Amino acid sequence: ALKMVTIGGGSSYTPELIEGYIKRKKQLPIKEIWLVDIPDGEKKLAITGAMAKRMVKSAGLDWEVHTTLNRSAALKNADFVSTQFRVGLLEARVKDERIPGSYGFLGQETNGAGGIFKAFRTVPVILDIVKDMKKLCPNAWLINFTNPSGMITEAIRTWGKWDRVIGLCNVPVMAMMNEPATIGKRLDELTYKFAGIDHFHWHRVWDNTGREVTMDIINKIYDGSDVGLPKNIFDVKFFREQLQQMKMIPCGYHRYYYREQEMLSHSLEEFNDIGTRAQQVMQIEHELFALYQDTNLDHKPKQLAERGGAHYSDAACEAIASIYNDKRTHMVVSTMNNGSIPDLPDDHVVEVSARVGATGAIPLAFGPLQPAERGWLQLMKNMELVIDEAAVTGDYGLALQAFIMNPLIPSGQKSKNLLDEMLVANKRYLPQF
Ligand code: NAD
Ligand code: G6P
Ligand code: MN
Repeated sequence: ALKMVTIGGGSSYTPELIEGYIKRKKQLPIKEIWLVDIPDGEKKLAITGAMAKRMVKSAGLDWEVHTTLNRSAALKNADFVSTQFRVGLLEARVKDERIPGSYGFLGQETNGAGGIFKAFRTVPVILDIVKDMKKLCPNAWLINFTNPSGMITEAIRTWGKWDRVIGLCNVPVMAMMNEPATIGKRLDELTYKFAGIDHFHWHRVWDNTGREVTMDIINKIYDGSDVGLPKNIFDVKFFREQLQQMKMIPCGYHRYYYREQEMLSHSLEEFNDIGTRAQQVMQIEHELFALYQDTNLDHKPKQLAERGGAHYSDAACEAIASIYNDKRTHMVVSTMNNGSIPDLPDDHVVEVSARVGATGAIPLAFGPLQPAERGWLQLMKNMELVIDEAAVTGDYGLALQAFIMNPLIPSGQKSKNLLDEMLVANKRYLPQF
């Protein structure tokens, strides 16, 4: 019988996670689900906990649902631990967006200076969780969603020395859900191969005769709207000539780099108009929690689709079911490279197509990239390593190096001032600096 733990249980995504477990009730002999949060999240936790209980009950299941602020009690003898927490809550995300914006730079949850600071706040907490897991549940699997998901998964492996971890994201899931129909196919008729790092990967697709259909999909999505794009990303079109040269489908987040000027002006306009994405999410969350408090509601409401991370918990549940049942399912996960992308070191985390089974993720070979993508990826991956080391050590010089390397932050005195301002604004969550 399985003990499942979710850290950040007060998240508005929790009903989706519970729905994912219920869908897989035949594959997962669950006994207990523990939802963990902190005092700041206690109110939200009470609501998601009650909602989870109603969902389980209406599915006719006898699973125990526990809510707690005591992380150790939850982790004791856990089988699967998933993480979906936000250090500093949405207030910190507003700062990640607004402060870089006030310097005229792009600030985003996982990109630019905002993404760097989200990593700085989160790495100490995740390493603390890993330390607890070594004592309390040394055989458990850690399924990480906490952003920046790739950098957090890297920190867990490289700095936490914990290898029973899989990092996940909904972006590849959404691409595979939505693209096949554009060329009149079903997902099970296609072969997908992804390679890169979290929020910075590309993919190629083949049909069941072995013919590559990547360009067919590109042509279709070019003529309409970008089908797999999460709600939080503004749909600026990629340059057609660039995609024709690249012959791969970039992920939605590549826009921040390939169309930086347009993404920056759009986001600055939004800030003054409907607010930053964090402020928009506060509104969506408000509506979602009002729904969750309705004691008649016992299923995931459709409004959850307004969140950028829609479907992500489904990936978490599928990864768990695949490990537990040794399903060897094709999934796109953050895991050790092990040669999948020869342009990057073997012993660092990449986000690639893999088979997920009892031993975790086994990455599939993708092969070398062309110079343009290779250059981007090597810069971005090495920047991640610099960010993680800065997050662990609190080394100011390394933090500055990360700022200087980041393509969304021009280098110079203004950027050093931005770093200093963000260090002060985040002080409460940065014990290492
Ligand atoms: P949220 O703001 O609702 O936070 C979730 C919960 O975490 C809150 O209830 C909060 O109180 C709690 N929390 C904060 N610090 C904590 C700590 N130290 N220990 C335990 N709980 C803590 O966040 P959300 O919008 O639901 O997103 C949660 C996380 O998942 C974020 O990091 C977000 O970026 C990430 N996310 C990732 C993906 C993906 O594709 N990988 C998709 C969606 C969300
Ligand atoms: C995306 C990503 C997540 C990100 C989220 C933001 O699709 O994959 O990593 O956290 O959506 O969504 P939000 O609704 O919080 O803006
Ligand atoms: Mn993601």
